Amino acid sequence: MSTSSPRKDQPTVLLCIGMAGSGKTTFMQRLNAHLHSKKRPPYVINLDPAVLKLPFTPNIDIRDTVNYKEVMKQYNLGPNGGILTSLNLFTTKFDQVLDFVNKRAPTLDHIIVDTPGQIEIFTWSASGAIITDALAATYPSVVAYIIDTPRTTSPATFMSNMLYACSILYKTKLPFILVFNKIDVVSHEFAIQWMTDFEAFQLALQKDTSYMSNLMNSMCMVLEEFYNNLKVVGVSAVTGEGIDEFFGAVDEAVKEYEEIY
Ligand code: GTP
Repeated sequence: MSTSSPRKDQPTVLLCIGMAGSGKTTFMQRLNAHLHSKKRPPYVINLDPAVLKLPFTPNIDIRDTVNYKEVMKQYNLGPNGGILTSLNLFTTKFDQVLDFVNKRAPTLDHIIVDTPGQIEIFTWSASGAIITDALAATYPSVVAYIIDTPRTTSPATFMSNMLYACSILYKTKLPFILVFNKIDVVSHEFAIQWMTDFEAFQLALQKDTSYMSNLMNSMCMVLEEFYNNLKVVGVSAVTGEGIDEFFGAVDEAVKEYEEIY
């Protein structure tokens, strides 16, 4: 693993992280198609051992190295334990993955990474941290946190999702883009309003729930600070709407990254 600072002419790593069903894989497919048609083809890494079918062909696929169903049988584990153990086994070989990536790096602008469906398996595991740190130590890296917009329209759910995103920002300490996905179904205008107008969000929250209102109000203030540290885009992984804006946000995030490192 490299411990030096990433060089500025290196490709950018886009780490796609999100709750189950938020659209990570569809978003990866969209990024892949967009980069193939408009920029340079990306290097694609799949870290989800349990995915059945991928709508793109990864350069590196965890499923080629570990068989998650066999891992479950061999270690007598349930599905989540099987995925976590598979990721742990794969991480022991991540230096070899980096060797492959490093060899291709001079011909690349982007390295895109799909993560396991169960978000905490990547964000709360030692393996997830090792992989993230190893990539970020070598390449400018950005987290794309994918949000299922239609399922986040309730203020309490929205706040829970934002707090989760905040915890990932805190853990990874990488430039962060909130990607409101599925805007072909529900526009993310409500989210922009809640993120920019503190009182509007508080009002919506009070209408939604009276549960622990003081705590909720304090959380709102925490989130205000969180919002200052990130970029927000609305996309539809299915129609491609918003993808140019997403890459605009990536370019800005990389500039910030270069200022930090
Ligand atoms: P897991 O790996 O199972 O956690 O799912 P994921 O986060 O990779 O999501 P996936 O890409 O499998 O998408 C989940 C569902 O959302 C699928 O039915 C997709 O077709 C749908 N979906 C993803 N993106 C969009 C979008 O932009 N618009 C609409 N309408 N549906 C979407």
